[in-house]
Amino acid sequence: MNLMPLVFDRFEHYVKNQAPKVASFHPHFEDALWEMVLNGGKRFRPQLLLSIVASYKPKMLEKAFAPALALEILHTYSLIHDDLPAMDDAPLRRGCQTLHTKYGETSAILAGDGLNTHAFYLLTKAKLKPKTKVKLIQCLSYNGGIYGMVLGQALDCYFEHQKLPLKQLRFIHLNKTAKLIAASLQMGGILADCDKKTRKSLYKLGLDLGLFFQIRDDIIDTTQSEQEAGKPTQQDTDKNSYVNLLGLEGAKKEAKNLSDSILTQFKTLNPKANKILNELLSHYFIF
Ligand code: IPE
Ligand code: IPE
Ligand code: MG
Ligand code: MG
Ligand code: MG
Repeated sequence: MNLMPLVFDRFEHYVKNQAPKVASFHPHFEDALWEMVLNGGKRFRPQLLLSIVASYKPKMLEKAFAPALALEILHTYSLIHDDLPAMDDAPLRRGCQTLHTKYGETSAILAGDGLNTHAFYLLTKAKLKPKTKVKLIQCLSYNGGIYGMVLGQALDCYFEHQKLPLKQLRFIHLNKTAKLIAASLQMGGILADCDKKTRKSLYKLGLDLGLFFQIRDDIIDTTQSEQEAGKPTQQDTDKNSYVNLLGLEGAKKEAKNLSDSILTQFKTLNPKANKILNELLSHYFIF
């Protein structure tokens, strides 16, 4: 029996109960901070982390909720900032009004800043060994910061309106999206105390999965409606995207090659991980 949907439900419940209490006389600081977290999304990154923990050390699952939340709120901060007028300028996210359209730009910037730092506060407070916490903090800050997501976002925005070669687009996608997804699997590996070789394999396959995920997102931008995607689509016209560089069929072919390689790499993990990840991802691999 697949117990992961139950674990994900419990995690969702946990997220709802973790809204930080920040006493002040600000009219909406507290609400704006947690609203986009509550609006939810696919919870793809925490689900990857929890899947690895469930596969390699299920007794650690409960303790993995705090790091999974840290990961999700750092990701949510990246979305809040990604939607700002200075970046992608989007009015809708996770099927809801973006924070800057509801509360103003200043509040949205600060909610993003707040979630970014709060992610690391949560990691320091987690009920884990100090050595494990340092490894998690290092993994999340490396991949979600200047050597990963932040760098990718800087390149993505700077080179809007300027067509880049595929090699550079791949570099952008690896940084803005893939590294945080690779970090999700690696953080699972850290929590489950997997050996170095397994953690390395998880990271490497996470990069492929993350690249796949961003190519899939580029495809969604051209093929889905705003309602289906929960965010505005047809937005990438001036962006370097796989669809713009390779055409829709070319992007789909690239995604298919990556998904084939990912499924092969899953087989190198333990049988439980192979099964859980296959179940989690099978519907992502269909277009
Ligand atoms: C959106 O991420 C940004 C990308 C990296 C493509 P998700 O597609 O995971 O968004 P949510 O978390 O489900 O809202
Ligand atoms: C954003 O990529 C990646 C992030 C690091 C947030 P996109 O700009 O394509 O994400 P969406 O399509 O707005 O979700
Ligand atoms: Mg963007
Ligand atoms: Mg965007
Ligand atoms: Mg996109």
